[in-house]
Amino acid sequence: MSSPAIHHAEYDDIAADYSASKQLPFRVLVEAPTLFALAGDVRGKTVLDLPCGDGTYSRAFARRGAASVLGVDLSSSMIERAQMSETEAPLGISYRVGDAASLGTVGPFDLVVACYLFNYARTAAELLAFARTVAANLKPGGRLVGMNDNPLTAFGGPQSYARYGFLRDVEVPVREGSRIRYSFPKADGTTFSFDNFWLSPDTYRAAFAEAGFAAFDFVECQAKLAEGHEPDLWQAFLSDCPIIGLFAQRDD
Ligand SMILES: C[S@@+](CC[C@H](N)C(=O)[O-])C[C@H]1O[C@@H](n2cnc3c(N)ncnc32)[C@H](O)[C@@H]1O
Repeated sequence: MSSPAIHHAEYDDIAADYSASKQLPFRVLVEAPTLFALAGDVRGKTVLDLPCGDGTYSRAFARRGAASVLGVDLSSSMIERAQMSETEAPLGISYRVGDAASLGTVGPFDLVVACYLFNYARTAAELLAFARTVAANLKPGGRLVGMNDNPLTAFGGPQSYARYGFLRDVEVPVREGSRIRYSFPKADGTTFSFDNFWLSPDTYRAAFAEAGFAAFDFVECQAKLAEGHEPDLWQAFLSDCPIIGLFAQRDD
C-alpha cells in the first residue's frame, strides 16, 4: 500500500522519466542480466527491494517465483507508479514509502535487492546506516545483491556515455562525497538528471563489515546480447563500465 510521503524526494520530480529510462539498452542488456545472475534462483524466497523505484525489479523477482516481495522507496511518486502497476496487473507485491536510513526492521527476508541505493550515501556514516538497515532485514546468512554506481571508474570530470543514452559528470577532485551527476537527454530535446555520490571501495568494505556482513564484494557487469546487438559497442561499455554489481552475505 502507498503511504504518505515523508518529505519531497528528488525522484518525485523525475519519476516518469526514470521509468522510461528503464527501457534503455544498457539497462536491459547489462544492468538486468548482471542483477539476475547475482540473485540466482529466487523461487520460494522472501525479497525486500530497497529502493524499489517504480517496481521494475520487484515485478521481475515476483515473476521469477519469489514467495513474497516488499518494495520500499523514499519517493511517493515512484511508489505510486509501482502501486499502479500492481493494481493493473497484480503479482502480490506490497509497496510502501520509506527511508532506507531509518526504515528499521520490516523483515527478515532471505534476499535484499538494493539496486542503486548505496550510491545515495554522501558519507561513511550514511552508508553505514543503509548497510545496517539491510543487515537488520536479512535472516542470518541472508544475501544482499544489487547494482551501484561503479566507484572504480569514477575518474573525475565529464564523461560521455552518449552512445548508451546518458552522460556522467564526476565532481573533481574525486573524494569522499563527490557528486556524480547522471544526465539523460530526452527525445523532446530536454534532459533529466539525478545525482549519486562517490565513496571509495574501502569505505564500502568497512561499512559492510561493521554492519555485520561476513562477505562483501563488487562484481563486474556482464552483458546478455542476442543477434543484432553489436558486441564491440557492449565490450566498450563493459571495459569502462559506469555501473557495477554488488554482493554481500550477513553473518550466520
Ligand atoms: C536510480 S533509482 C533505482 C530504483 C530501482 N531500484 C531501479 O533500479 O529501477 C534510485 C531510487 O532510490 C530512491 N532512494 C534514494 N534515496 C533513498 C533512501 N534514503 N531510501 C529509500 N529510497 C531512496 C529514489 O527515490 C529512487 O527511486
